Amino acid sequence: MDPIIAATHADPYPFYARLRAEGGLTFDHGLNLWLASTARVVRAVLAHPDCHVRPAHEPVPNSIAGGMAAKVFGQLMRMNEGERQRCPRSAIEPELSTIDSREVQALVGARLIMPGADGLQAAMFRGPACVVASLLGFTPAQGRIISELTADFVACLSPLSTPAQLDTAHAAAEQLSSHFRELLEEQSQQSPLLAGICQRFTATDSHADSLIANLIGLLSQTFDATAGLIGNALVALIENPSLRFDTPPIDELLAEVQRFDPPVQNTRRFVSAPCRIEGVNLNKGDTILVLLASANRDPQLNHNPDTFLADRQDRRSLTFGSGRHQCPGQALAMEIASATLKQILKVNPTLEQLSWHYRPSLNGRVPVFFDRAKD
Ligand code: HEM
Repeated sequence: MDPIIAATHADPYPFYARLRAEGGLTFDHGLNLWLASTARVVRAVLAHPDCHVRPAHEPVPNSIAGGMAAKVFGQLMRMNEGERQRCPRSAIEPELSTIDSREVQALVGARLIMPGADGLQAAMFRGPACVVASLLGFTPAQGRIISELTADFVACLSPLSTPAQLDTAHAAAEQLSSHFRELLEEQSQQSPLLAGICQRFTATDSHADSLIANLIGLLSQTFDATAGLIGNALVALIENPSLRFDTPPIDELLAEVQRFDPPVQNTRRFVSAPCRIEGVNLNKGDTILVLLASANRDPQLNHNPDTFLADRQDRRSLTFGSGRHQCPGQALAMEIASATLKQILKVNPTLEQLSWHYRPSLNGRVPVFFDRAKD
């Protein structure tokens, strides 16, 4: 196993434990990457001003350069440091925190979830993006189109995408931008969330292109990660019969799933200037693979970390990152996942018919389900 294969391996956690035992920050010569595996080092890297989200020589991946997806990517707060991150974040983060959980529940409840694996896939992937689209003011019919376009757009974020998928991602970026431009022009149709974000954007004097890119960013950040959270909760229920017979409240179950088996297993940082982290000297140009999932299993972070405890006290988790890029959508993601999981369990009272594999990814742990009978 290596730390990249680990993200989609059936059980990467003993491997992460071995890495932590070798030291929190070790160098993998085969992958030419530093590996941050303990909670202490993960936090230190994510807090360090010289550890950036993109390499200085390639702010936008070369594979998408020149196309519309690159224009969006280049403006995303997730992919920037400095003002290009702080400005959009200061407009979006406070507004995300005003979303009413009853509205999220109502939006999830209004969606029809079909039984079986196909219905599950739609509920996991398309559902959460439709909810975010609705919160931003799109109609349900537009939301379905937006979620399809988001599925196409996220291909530009993965180095595993084929040239054909990248072409589709460029087209999706173009179409998503026009949908948002039209929505922004119809000021009377704006949802409270969108109106609030726009007001704060105007106050920071940020560019309209940045606004649109970061609205697309809300959809793309939602897409795979929320699907993974819902899917990994289903995996936990299938693999732990005790949880099925004595089902804990869904919110408690999800709180432990996100710690125990996170949908985002790792993220990366690129060293922009020589620096020293936890006694290790790093050079400009070094890359660090930040193993969030390993940090969650560090006994220094959580007591008895390899045991799944839905009612765990003082749970601590780095699944949503930490520091200046920490996920501003955490509460929303948990709400959407909770409401969706409740609906899924209503239409799929038994889960035994499902089998799964993880979607190919360098960092996401997102199960894809099949009906056993169709295998
Ligand atoms: C289970 C679901 C989710 C997980 C596990 C997750 C995880 C993360 C992580 C780990 C980061 C930090 C990446 C880094 O520092 O390298 C992040 C950033 C971000 N997330 Fe989430 N996320 C989830 C859902 C969402 C949702 C629903 C939204 C919004 C609707 C969202 C919006 C964002 C944004 C905008 C950023 C970039 C923040 C910045 O760069 O300042 N995420 N997320």
